[in-house]
Amino acid sequence: MKLALVLAAFLTLVIAQDGYASQNGGTTGGAGGTTTTVSAAAAFQTAIKSNTPKVVFLKGPITLSSQASIGNNTSIIGVGTSGVINGGGLRTVGTSNVIIRNLVISKVKGNDGITVQRARNIWIDHNEFFSDTDHGFDFYDGQVDLTHACDFITVSWNYFHDHYKSSLIGADPGDGKEDTGKYHITYHHNRWNNVHTRTPAMRFAHVHSYNNLFDNIVSQGIHSRSFAQVLIEGNVFSNTKEPVSTYGFVIPDDSPANPSGDFEPDGFANLGAANDFGTGKNNITATGNFTSVPYSYTLTPLSSVRSTVTAGAGVGKI
Ligand SMILES: *[C@@H]1O[C@H](CO)[C@@H](O)[C@H](O)[C@H]1NC(C)=O
Ligand SMILES: *[C@@H]1O[C@H](CO)[C@@H](O)[C@H](O)[C@H]1NC(C)=O
Ligand SMILES: *[C@@H]1O[C@H](CO)[C@@H](O)[C@H](O)[C@H]1NC(C)=O
Ligand SMILES: *[C@@H]1O[C@H](CO)[C@@H](O)[C@H](O)[C@H]1NC(C)=O
Repeated sequence: MKLALVLAAFLTLVIAQDGYASQNGGTTGGAGGTTTTVSAAAAFQTAIKSNTPKVVFLKGPITLSSQASIGNNTSIIGVGTSGVINGGGLRTVGTSNVIIRNLVISKVKGNDGITVQRARNIWIDHNEFFSDTDHGFDFYDGQVDLTHACDFITVSWNYFHDHYKSSLIGADPGDGKEDTGKYHITYHHNRWNNVHTRTPAMRFAHVHSYNNLFDNIVSQGIHSRSFAQVLIEGNVFSNTKEPVSTYGFVIPDDSPANPSGDFEPDGFANLGAANDFGTGKNNITATGNFTSVPYSYTLTPLSSVRSTVTAGAGVGKI
């Protein structure tokens, strides 16, 4: 009985409880499967690729030369602050039920920190992503990029910093046929500092962004384009030029095909519970109809968002 209680507490800890990852049957990762701890790159790559339920603890650091592929039914959890992956990054494609927690992913040249495609029920929680802004915006790619019709994803309590383009939802304005009706994604209690764009940028999506902290977003913060809808509430921005835009123009600082910028259709934005936009100026061209979500959530009071997110986001906190 005691053991069952301990087990139940442990499972509670590693199962996504909130946001869109809690929908569509929920996101349990490798709960109930095998548990292994790895500390070398090759062992890590092998441990995460099967489809049988498994929890893989990473006691790093490790260095990857290319992205490591995650199979279905997988939890990857960093041990303490040692879950460090230098370069390479992670990908999960055509999968469901994946949890990625407490990892530090940095400086992935020419690729994303985490690439998620055609995947459902993914929870990306309490990680840290960084590179530098000493090179152009395409030297590194995104930090968390969700493309090709993935769905039911929660991105929570991550610390994203020192990077150009942070997080993209929807690869291309021409992907409407594949993407429309997908991308139900929640971003909450994430901390962004010193990134240029995409916190996130989205196409065709329904994104719920609440209680995130944004400091020093150089060019553009939340960008809703190509018919995407975003519900924005309880967020705090400081020193951010344009916290929210729904204007379809892809600015020159955001990797457009044409160096002077690309045009695509506008998106929609709804402002829910009050946000603090600081001195930034929004460009909201269209208000949408995405005003509620199918799950329950508790908003952190706006006045506590900065301290709560600063204390809680990133690694070594779970
Ligand atoms: C995930 O694991 C469950 C439980 O073992 C299994 O039924 C399901 O088929 C697995 N999913 C995939 C896509 O392999
Ligand atoms: C995950 O499961 C799906 C559905 O069963 C399967 O098509 C896919 O190949 C699996 N992914 C991997 C990485 O094995
Ligand atoms: C805001 O959007 C409008 C389109 O409705 C556009 O004409 C204008 O240039 C945009 N303003 C800025 C500052 O980007
Ligand atoms: C919400 O707005 C979108 C974009 O205008 C529209 O396509 C959709 O039909 C609307 N949904 C409802 C339920 O009104």
